[in-house]
Amino acid sequence: MRGGVQGSVREVTHEGVACVLKTPRGGMWAGPGRWMIRRERRVYRELEGLPGVPRCFGLTEEGLLLEASPGRALSEFRRGDISVGFLDCLDSLIAGIHARGVAHSDLKKRANILVREKGREGEREKGNPGEEQSPVIVDFGAAFLKGELLYETFRRVDLAAAAKLRAHHQPETLRTEQKYILDHPTWAERLSRFLVRAVRDPFRAIWKLENL
Ligand SMILES: Nc1ncnc2c1ncn2[C@@H]1O[C@H](COP(=O)(O)OP(=O)(O)O)[C@@H](O)[C@H]1O
Ligand SMILES: [Mg+2]
Repeated sequence: MRGGVQGSVREVTHEGVACVLKTPRGGMWAGPGRWMIRRERRVYRELEGLPGVPRCFGLTEEGLLLEASPGRALSEFRRGDISVGFLDCLDSLIAGIHARGVAHSDLKKRANILVREKGREGEREKGNPGEEQSPVIVDFGAAFLKGELLYETFRRVDLAAAAKLRAHHQPETLRTEQKYILDHPTWAERLSRFLVRAVRDPFRAIWKLENL
């Protein structure tokens, strides 16, 4: 399917169900990669049964087995092509994830949010996004659990990512608290991409910093 930050993600079938297998990077990264993928499985356990988060079938010898979610990555959608309903649903989904004690931390990366569309492609007019879009969040490889040092920091990074998305697609629907978050970015929001890289791959992140 594709190579990712941590390794590769490919389509497989598991007991007749369409799945994806997320395999950690090999070579010298095998150790840390395996540790990360075990941690990601732990996060999926906390989120079990939450609509909008793929089902996790656990770890196989090759990697993490997840239900394949239909839909396209949010990164493929242009400004305004995402509905207000989708953004409302995304806010609720993020609240649901936080209620389970998980901060995703990498929602700024639009490939980590998938858009499921119920309406038929041809029926949607340009500039009139389908009402039936709904979000799925993937990639909990850099997530934090409640009680961990940076949990609250990254919970706010998630809220800032959602506010930014709304500002991009449907700015007139921004709520007061979202405007506040956008007007008052914290150090973590400014540094969030670097921090996510640092969590996933400390050596590479530091190397990149040195090479700025
Ligand atoms: N459960 C899933 N269903 C469908 N697509 C998925 C699923 N999990 C991941 N993907 C796709 O694979 C891509 C890479 O997976 P991700 O977990 O984000 O890996 P990485 O940690 O390497 O970024 C995602 O951006 C998404 O497009
Ligand atoms: Mg990802």
